[in-house]
Amino acid sequence: DTASAQGRPLVHFMPARNWMNDPNGLVHADGVYHLFFQHNPSGEAWGNMSWGHATSPDLVTWTERPVAIEQGVAADGTPIEGIFSGSAVVDVDDTAGFRTSPDGPAPLVAIYTSAHTPEHPTLPGIQAQSLAYSLDGGVTWLRHAGNPVLDRGSADFRDPKVFRYDGPAGSYWVMVAVEALDKKVVLYRSDNLRDWTYLSEFGPANATGGIWECPDLFELAVDGDPATTRWVLVINLNPGGVAGGSAGQYFVGEFDGVTFRSESTVPADPGLEPGSRAELERYDWLDWGSDYYAAVSFFGTGGLDHRVMVGWLNNWEYAHALAVGPILRSRMALPRRVELVTTPTGPRLRQSVVPELAGRLATDAAVRRDGATLDGVTPLDVAATAAHISVTLAPGTASTCGLRLLGDDEHGTLVGYDARTGRVFVDRSAGRDPGVGDAFLSRDEAPLPATATDGPVHLDVYIDGGSVEVFAADGLRTITQLQFPPSGAGRIDGFATDGVAELVSLTVTPII
Ligand code: FRU
Repeated sequence: DTASAQGRPLVHFMPARNWMNDPNGLVHADGVYHLFFQHNPSGEAWGNMSWGHATSPDLVTWTERPVAIEQGVAADGTPIEGIFSGSAVVDVDDTAGFRTSPDGPAPLVAIYTSAHTPEHPTLPGIQAQSLAYSLDGGVTWLRHAGNPVLDRGSADFRDPKVFRYDGPAGSYWVMVAVEALDKKVVLYRSDNLRDWTYLSEFGPANATGGIWECPDLFELAVDGDPATTRWVLVINLNPGGVAGGSAGQYFVGEFDGVTFRSESTVPADPGLEPGSRAELERYDWLDWGSDYYAAVSFFGTGGLDHRVMVGWLNNWEYAHALAVGPILRSRMALPRRVELVTTPTGPRLRQSVVPELAGRLATDAAVRRDGATLDGVTPLDVAATAAHISVTLAPGTASTCGLRLLGDDEHGTLVGYDARTGRVFVDRSAGRDPGVGDAFLSRDEAPLPATATDGPVHLDVYIDGGSVEVFAADGLRTITQLQFPPSGAGRIDGFATDGVAELVSLTVTPII
């Protein structure tokens, strides 16, 4: 049965049925993590865009809730308003005035894109920003009567991410959104979430081989020192990503409450073909794999210390072509803790899976294989389909070495290190083809910083019901890939090519 494959993941959010794309409205309020998502409540392909909803106490155990915001329809049922991507905030001071009683939790306010269809009576084809609010901690949502609250007369103005700015310029709400086709981020400010004033714009810059979508902007301490901060501007891009199709890039710079100034924009190099791998490798990517898109951060977590981000574990290049049955094409990546650390080229993001995952790791059942010699495909007598795999490799005389995961006699995904190029890679070309062909059977790779290749190379790998997420160079590089192994394929072998490598250490800890 091609539909069942390895079944549902254990710690990755996936809706019970039907289509899902971007994470939306990520907010932590009253001890609950809310994950809203682009959802077709009645179909397996993109359409009828609404905000689905799930909640979690710990970011790894998710409970799906009723649809929060449904697409808008006319009296005769004609769809007139898609509820596209956006964000949510806790309006502690009731700046928007939605509170109706002094009791109860602080209002949650969602800021989303109303994607008006050509049938819309007054704003046909226009994308504008709208509000919905919840006075019961996120259970039920009401649309604001004055929608939309921000309309530029544009057909591609979307994906508002709102945060609270508190700095030298004052204290107010800031919205970052995109003019998608212009490859621009536009910034606005507001005191009440209803009235917005233009601040500035950013872009095009760095990767521009596709439209810009789903931006985010946040401040982080560099190396954990709150006296030295930088702002990170996240821009998702489709297509034109480093592994082909959709991906997220980021910029590091300063934000003075009005304008973002990038310190990481790379000057154009006329010697490089636009869109070539050589060009794209000069930019900063949230992830170097095929399947990490529309990633944005939670409101209400982390402060200057860190942010928590969630991405869609898929790629627009083939999301609809995946012949894997009704639901398996829809899953989120594991939530990631992101921090800023000093590197030779300036502060850059370091990512790790949120520490809450520890609560789902069966450390008592961990299996270790230390000191094995890898020569060709080397059986290690270990198997897992959901696990944290911590591996340290010394390439020795081998040109490539690593682990063959999710394996059976026929299939397997390689996670390894190429000593000739100093790159880490995830290669699913020998994995199972979910009906897509070459666009899916890819080898994704990331160059490691020189400091990470001096000695043995350490990788943290997470597999769960078919996804592979690799964290290399202490989280400075990540590679995320969707996989559809046949059911039962869970063998973990070692491998080395053209020589002999050492498996310095391997710990496979089951996820439960
Ligand atoms: C990104 C995106 C957003 C849009 C949403 C529609 O994947 O295209 O720009 O708001 O998906 O579902």
